[in-house]
Amino acid sequence: MEFNLQDVDAIIDQWGPKPASLLQIMLDINHRYHYLPKESLSRVAERLVMPINHVYSVATFFKVFSLKPRGRTIMHVCTGTACHVKGTPRLLDRLEQDLHLKPGETTADMAITLETVNCVGACASAPVVVVEGVTHAEVTPNKVSKIAKGLRQRESVASDQ
Ligand code: FES
Repeated sequence: MEFNLQDVDAIIDQWGPKPASLLQIMLDINHRYHYLPKESLSRVAERLVMPINHVYSVATFFKVFSLKPRGRTIMHVCTGTACHVKGTPRLLDRLEQDLHLKPGETTADMAITLETVNCVGACASAPVVVVEGVTHAEVTPNKVSKIAKGLRQRESVASDQ
């Protein structure tokens, strides 16, 4: 979604331009663009009358926020101990092969971002991959390849429409 200052203003107006709304406003902006565009942070600081440094410190403190553009879909691969032992490195190798992505990178068409996360609390199902809130259990390299393929297909169908 293209950045638009009016959309940011609408989000700020929805929650009210007051410091207590900061987190909610940032969550909505992050949700809309999949990251926090620099211009949006300046606008938030200006309208909430707070130092830009404070807005940046919130943006960098919470892992949910990103200051770098991210893809429309984020694949979270768990690198917690249980998942690591049960094969996360092989999943990451396979994704690098299939999508040419290393953790933290995004496909050129902005479709998919690959990220790693610490334990997501599903160790009994290790190794796990979380995509759009769905936890995929006991993921093998073939299974992760299938998940990635499904996402790519969905994207190409969407761009054909
Ligand atoms: S280590 Fe991956 S879910 Fe716990």
